Amino acid sequence: ERDKSTLFTPEIRAAIDKHIAKYPSEWRQSAVMPALTLVQDANGGWLTQALMDDIAVYLDMPPMSVYEVATFYGMYDLEPQGRHKVCVCNSISCMLQGSEELIEHVEHKYGVKPGETTADGRFTLKEVECLGACRDAPAVLLDKTYHEKLSPDALDKLIDDLE
Ligand code: FES
Repeated sequence: ERDKSTLFTPEIRAAIDKHIAKYPSEWRQSAVMPALTLVQDANGGWLTQALMDDIAVYLDMPPMSVYEVATFYGMYDLEPQGRHKVCVCNSISCMLQGSEELIEHVEHKYGVKPGETTADGRFTLKEVECLGACRDAPAVLLDKTYHEKLSPDALDKLIDDLE
């Protein structure tokens, strides 16, 4: 487990403060999603319970409410992740346009199922809900970048470029 005092850094708190400043002061909790994102990014792509507890204290909210947000939204992960996240949308539009084929392809070629990380730690495969890019299905969110109308070959090229 991380050291509480070192990972919830002044830099992270300052970045969270910028989000808090967008809302009236009694609404600190409104910053919970950006706070989770900032902390997750700083912690190698996942959230520990201790970090979520830090967020709860900082935003003056019950820890349970922070866990609820973190578990409800697919972009937060509560387990260690690979260096990259390959998030394949598997909602209806993408499914109709071949997202299952993409997932199966990655499963076979790289030996990971959704939720698993490659043995070399290069990436975690995730199956996610609608990414809001349905018109250009199938869509994949690779770390923070959206890729649309992907074929298995095109996805391979993206994965090949990952460190
Ligand atoms: Fe895949 Fe909406 S269904 S982006």
